[in-house]
Amino acid sequence: MSVYTLLYLAQILLAILYSHGALAEKMMRPKIKDMKLWSDEKFLSHKLTYDHADPHLNFTLDVHQDVSDVDLHFDTRIINKLDPFYTSTFNITLNLCRILNYSTKSPVGRFVYTFIKEYGNIIESCPIPKGSYAITKFWYPEDPTTAMLPEIDFEVNFAAYHLDASKKRNLIINDHITGEFTVQDVNNLKPGIFAMLPKVG
Ligand SMILES: *[C@@H]1O[C@H](CO)[C@@H](O)[C@H](O)[C@H]1NC(C)=O
Ligand SMILES: *[C@@H]1O[C@H](CO)[C@@H](O)[C@H](O)[C@H]1NC(C)=O
Ligand SMILES: *[C@@H]1O[C@H](CO)[C@@H](O)[C@H](O)[C@H]1NC(C)=O
Repeated sequence: MSVYTLLYLAQILLAILYSHGALAEKMMRPKIKDMKLWSDEKFLSHKLTYDHADPHLNFTLDVHQDVSDVDLHFDTRIINKLDPFYTSTFNITLNLCRILNYSTKSPVGRFVYTFIKEYGNIIESCPIPKGSYAITKFWYPEDPTTAMLPEIDFEVNFAAYHLDASKKRNLIINDHITGEFTVQDVNNLKPGIFAMLPKVG
């Protein structure tokens, strides 16, 4: 991951975490332009829908046979609209089973996990048992952005690989999503991080 990408992600996080108040109706929001989803249909099928006007995601996953171990691969590109010269890419491969294991042990992991769980039933551990998993009307917590972040185009290539007993990798999901993050005037802000924190006194 490049330094530029790290700075950019830190900037987004800081803006989400710390800015609130004055420009209450300005939000950076994603708009998906194109979405191509593929699943192998033997181990699993999946579907993702996105509503831009009333921002939320629905995700369904049907696991047709037990999946013992899974690697996730993200290959992401971020292009600054004003200065396409500054294109950042990052590739990352994660083992889903290790993340699930970790999420039950770290407080941050538990917080994120509990938050997502509110929206449906999700995978809890490996091996992933045969069954249906769904997340309905999911959105991340938003806080109004006062800092002006550069508007960006993004491209996400997401792949999941099943690892068999001999650690052989088989492609089971291959998704390509492109879109943009733009500053938008919104009147349907979802509760932000601050609203989720326990009230004091
Ligand atoms: C997501 O699911 C909910 C509940 O089933 C439905 O009302 C909504 O229209 C769905 N949204 C999309 C984008 O598919
Ligand atoms: C990311 O991985 C893809 C293959 O998945 C490769 O073609 C590309 O060159 C990689 N990009 C970087 C920045 O490492
Ligand atoms: C999960 O954690 C336990 C205990 O820390 C460890 O023994 C086990 O190997 C871990 N499993 C995975 C898939 O990382």
